[in-house]
Amino acid sequence: MSKKKIVVLAGDGIGPEITAAAVEVLKKVGETFGHEFELDYKLLGGCAIDKFGVPLPDETVAACKASDGVLLGAVGGPKWDALPADVRPEKGLLGIRKALGLFANLRPAVIYPELADASPLKKEVLARGVNVMVVRELIGGIYFGPRGTKEDGKVAYDTEIYSEDEVRRIAKVAFDLARGRRKKVTSVDKANVLVSSRLWRRVVEEVHEDYPDVELSHIYVDNAAMQLVRDPSQFDVLLCPNMFGDILSDEASQITGSIGLLPSSSLGTEKAGLFEPIHGSAPDIAGKDIANPIATILAAAMLLDNMGMGKEARAVENAVGAFLSDGWRTPDLGKGKQVGCAEAGRLIAGYVHA
Ligand code: IPM
Ligand code: MG
Repeated sequence: MSKKKIVVLAGDGIGPEITAAAVEVLKKVGETFGHEFELDYKLLGGCAIDKFGVPLPDETVAACKASDGVLLGAVGGPKWDALPADVRPEKGLLGIRKALGLFANLRPAVIYPELADASPLKKEVLARGVNVMVVRELIGGIYFGPRGTKEDGKVAYDTEIYSEDEVRRIAKVAFDLARGRRKKVTSVDKANVLVSSRLWRRVVEEVHEDYPDVELSHIYVDNAAMQLVRDPSQFDVLLCPNMFGDILSDEASQITGSIGLLPSSSLGTEKAGLFEPIHGSAPDIAGKDIANPIATILAAAMLLDNMGMGKEARAVENAVGAFLSDGWRTPDLGKGKQVGCAEAGRLIAGYVHA
């Protein structure tokens, strides 16, 4: 019996529905394996702006820091689109990542055989296997660099900026992960144009000296986007600066059949990691009970893993597999026994076994 404190940041749009489904699964894990999960619901994003006037209230940061892990839904929506950049919901998400020092974002893209039909790629391409781990640097680069407007708002700029230390620590994460996988790191940059990419490439090569057993190659981001759909089997760990990882992980998710399937974990300098689907708040389908909760449920599995509950995490992954092989499908997954978000959560919880 162990007791863990989990902060739930449901957020906006479909966030409350998908996190509710994942909480259902966590509760079943608690009952099945005899753990107590103390859930603390806090506000982040648009819902926090509505209540407190800011996307990331201090009490949310404090609760996350004091927790064993954070489960996040998604933030943002048209309601807050007209707000200035600094009080937008997305700023809250970037802010909590920064506040928790979450520099490493892991986004695994794997194909479920049951969903091969949902992938836009040809069967013979998928047959070579898709198992890519996107390692995205999460609190540096252009999303956090100097920015501003000039000439009365007629000119605007953002800055891609990386230090050696920032590149070194994320590169280590990628090489360490590769050791437990197929021992291949492909580092993504745009070193033919950007000086920040040249620094990125040099530091990645330096870190590689400590990992002679791992194969390293470099790829330009435009080529990476193309290769990912041409033959994803060539990639094992894809090491990316913040923005390139943001873009390529959406692309990788679609290869697997639906963006509704990909979880991510963000790890860093504090005890608490943050676990979220890679997709957004999908305001167009919010409240309709048709969202796919699988990415969030798999994010909960990553949270369990991070709290040292490996067998519980495997039980959740197996439950998702059983749900899919029994033919259950949320609308985004195409033909099958159709279920909504809440029902999918209940069914997957039901498949959790010790
Ligand atoms: C993601 C999202 C966020 C990001 C947005 C909502 C700020 O796209 O997690 O990939 O860019 O990191
Ligand atoms: Mg994104």
